[in-house]
Amino acid sequence: MLTVSNISKSYYNGSQTKKALNGIDLTVGKGEVVGLVGESGCGKSTLARVVMQLESADSGLITFNGKPVTRKSRKSFYQATQLIFQNASAALNPSWTVRKILLEPLRMMKGDRDAHIRHMLERVKLSEIHLHKYPSELSGGERQRVNLLRSLLVEPDLLICDEIISNLDRLIQREIIDLLLELNREMGMSILFIAHDLQAVMYACDRIYVMKDGRVVDESVKTDGVFHFSQSYARQLFDSVLGNRMRE
Ligand SMILES: Nc1ncnc2c1ncn2[C@@H]1O[C@H](COP(=O)(O)OP(=O)(O)OP(=O)(O)O)[C@@H](O)[C@H]1O
Ligand SMILES: [Mg+2]
Repeated sequence: MLTVSNISKSYYNGSQTKKALNGIDLTVGKGEVVGLVGESGCGKSTLARVVMQLESADSGLITFNGKPVTRKSRKSFYQATQLIFQNASAALNPSWTVRKILLEPLRMMKGDRDAHIRHMLERVKLSEIHLHKYPSELSGGERQRVNLLRSLLVEPDLLICDEIISNLDRLIQREIIDLLLELNREMGMSILFIAHDLQAVMYACDRIYVMKDGRVVDESVKTDGVFHFSQSYARQLFDSVLGNRMRE
C-alpha cells in the first residue's frame, strides 16, 4: 500500500550538512500495523514529514497503492492518509470547542456532519458532553483521543502516528493503543506507529523497523508474539526492554 524506496534527505545548517535520512526503504501493507523505532534524532519524524509531503526528499520514491506520491498529487493522498503528531495540546486550537475542531476536517463532506461526528465519538470512547468543551477542559488522554478522532473522521486507509502516546501515563497509553488496534481490525486501517517506547511498539505491531542515524538497520515480523532481530544493534535495544520487563 505505502512504499518508501531509497529516500534520502539532508539538512544544511550553515556550513554543515546533516544526512537525516539515508536511503530509507520501508513498506506498510494493507491492514498492517508497522512499528518504526530508533533513538532520538535518528530521523523518524523527518521520514513521517517526507512521506506526508510536508518536506521534499532529496531523492527516492514514495508510492501509495502503486502510484507515485508527489507534491502535486498529494491532495488525493491526503484523503487516504492522515498523520497525527506527538503533542495533542499543540495540535488542537485552544479557542475552538471540540465540536468545531471536529467539524473542520469534514468541511468538504456532504450530508449530516454532526451525525457523523456523534457516530464516531463512540469509537474513541468520548461522549457528546465533550463536544462543547475546549481542549484545556479535557484530560491528556481525552485530548489525544480528540486528536485521533479528528484524523479518523475522514476514514483514512493509512494512519501515521508519530509519538502519539508520549507524555501519557501507562494506562492511557494502553487505552489509545487498544483503540488503534480495534480500528485496525474493524476498518482495516493500516498504521505506521512511530515511537520510542519499545514495549508499546512490541505490543501493538505486526512488524517493526529499527532506524539508526538515518538508516533502517533492522526489521522483524512478529512470530508467535515474538520479534527476532538479526543485527546486534536492534538485539541490544530490545534485550534491554525484556530486562526491564522482568524487573517490573
Ligand atoms: N528542520 C530541520 N532543520 C535541520 N535539521 C533538522 C530539521 N528537522 C530535523 N533535523 C535533524 O534531523 C535529524 C532527525 O530528526 P528527527 O526529528 O527526524 O528525529 P526523530 O527520530 O524523530 O527524533 P525523536 O525521537 O527525538 O522525535 C536530527 O539530527 C535533527 O536535528
Ligand atoms: Mg520525532
